[in-house]
Amino acid sequence: MDLDVFISYEHSSKSIADSIVSSFERDKIRCWYAPRDVIGDYATSIVEAIESARIFILVLSGESSNSPHVLNEVEMAYKKNIEQSQAITIIPFKVSNDELSRAMEYYIKRIHWIDATTSSLETAIADLKNKVKRIIGIEDAPVAQSQPERTQNKYFTADDKKEVMRLKTQEKILQAFDGGIYEKAAEEFGSVCALDIGSNCGDNFYNRFAPLKNLEKAVGIEYDAAAVREANKRYGSDKFVFFQADVEAEDFAEKLDDILNEQGIQAFDIINISMLLLHIKKPYNLLKTARKLLKRGGYLIIRDIDDGYNVAYPDNEKLFKQAIRYCSESEFSGYRESGREIYTTLKDTGFRDIKLEKLGLSTVEMDYDEREALFDTYFSFIGDDLKLMCKKYPDSEHFATAYKWMVDHYDQMESEFMRDDFFFTLGFMLFSARK
Ligand SMILES: C[S@@+](CC[C@H](N)C(=O)[O-])C[C@H]1O[C@@H](n2cnc3c(N)ncnc32)[C@H](O)[C@@H]1O
Repeated sequence: MDLDVFISYEHSSKSIADSIVSSFERDKIRCWYAPRDVIGDYATSIVEAIESARIFILVLSGESSNSPHVLNEVEMAYKKNIEQSQAITIIPFKVSNDELSRAMEYYIKRIHWIDATTSSLETAIADLKNKVKRIIGIEDAPVAQSQPERTQNKYFTADDKKEVMRLKTQEKILQAFDGGIYEKAAEEFGSVCALDIGSNCGDNFYNRFAPLKNLEKAVGIEYDAAAVREANKRYGSDKFVFFQADVEAEDFAEKLDDILNEQGIQAFDIINISMLLLHIKKPYNLLKTARKLLKRGGYLIIRDIDDGYNVAYPDNEKLFKQAIRYCSESEFSGYRESGREIYTTLKDTGFRDIKLEKLGLSTVEMDYDEREALFDTYFSFIGDDLKLMCKKYPDSEHFATAYKWMVDHYDQMESEFMRDDFFFTLGFMLFSARK
């Protein structure tokens, strides 16, 4: 018997079980439920169906929690998991707020359920079906714009306190990720003149370059005017200065010339581009400009991301896979396959000594706080960006569902992520190259 789902219910919930089955079977999910699918001996038929199924849906109510038949079935699924290690996913589908029997509580107390009492039955069954599809690996074709092309993305503003907090947290983890690359590059020069492109409020740039003993001048370029004001307020000095400019604007070269003339700078020893390439349309043009602006022998340091290198394990319910997929559909999250293009673009723009200094930031060796910070860094912004997509596309059902899904599953993902045997790698990349 080849089965996807076994449905366990008590007869007072028969109409709910019928609705689940008819909705699932419309999408070719193979269901088993009694009495429809009983062949021959009732008990044998049930045992065989539970042995064959990958998912066990328990229609959970006061009645089912007291039903000896249902309890037997739950016990069988529970044992299958103990004997064969997570062989069947049990999903309680809660259809009433009745108190549960103690026996039922024993079996399901650690299991995350879908609550059908807080929305319409139709919506709850749709949630249940999505969850089942993820587990058995049937993916819906994306209904909204996925992101086949780069879009220019300058959504950040310094007033966005959450974004500022996220960048700060990210900053802390990433200093360890950088592994001393800036100090190593700076050692090559008597004095260092540095440029940071996409400098935001200046934190990342300042934290990396201010400690360099031979730093002479540090210039930040940023699209967002409020972020530039904030950067100059926080770090502006005779060494650090920040300017507003859009690197994708037609007059960027001219504007930059004016800035360099005003500062008496001819070329830079180090140029830093951190988490910007994913947000722009034409990285090739920017890297070409960066090469022009470097002294011979100067360093370009790039940090970026590629979600193709993200790995989450174990991701039994495929929640992480789904969240990463939603992230790739949101215009505000940038172009999530940006990292893999960097080597080729550096080659094409004439850089030499190209090194992939680091690939992947993983939970291995992270303590509790670092794990929490990494989760927050990556996953909190996905929901925020989906919310922005809902605002931008108010008629898109897809983004409304995606945002709701992210909100509904955030806590469950966090608690899985915080288990110290959960493995996650985030596809951060750190490149260095020379002119
Ligand atoms: C994700 S943040 C990264 C900030 C900082 N570099 C870091 O690594 O923490 C990207 C920054 O690039 C800026 N940006 C995006 N497009 C830009 C453009 N076309 N020209 C200049 N800055 C841009 C954004 O406003 C934002 O401040």
